[in-house]
Amino acid sequence: MPSVTYVDYQGQSTQLELAEGMTLMQGAVMNGIEGIEGECSGSCACATCHCYVDESWVGKMPPMSENEDDMLDGTASERKDNSRLSCQIKMTAELDGIVIHMPEEQG
Ligand code: FES
Repeated sequence: MPSVTYVDYQGQSTQLELAEGMTLMQGAVMNGIEGIEGECSGSCACATCHCYVDESWVGKMPPMSENEDDMLDGTASERKDNSRLSCQIKMTAELDGIVIHMPEEQG
């Protein structure tokens, strides 16, 4: 299974293997990774699954929807160029090894 590394605000990292099709938010919540909340369960309606995609992965990400773009304007921590909603990123073989960073706050 492809792997993802979650890096928390303090720099501690946890690597998990996720089934393809599972979102990075689901992987975090189901495995007790702190720093990603996912209050709306992945409906793209809360922005508490905000993450920063590691710079080395930014160019490999699937494009974001207009809805995700709008929701990212309401994140608790600063929106940056590499901000994404982790509930909108599905694990695929192409994303094997992806690294995401959690923001300081999720609101
Ligand atoms: S879980 Fe709510 S927007 Fe991602």
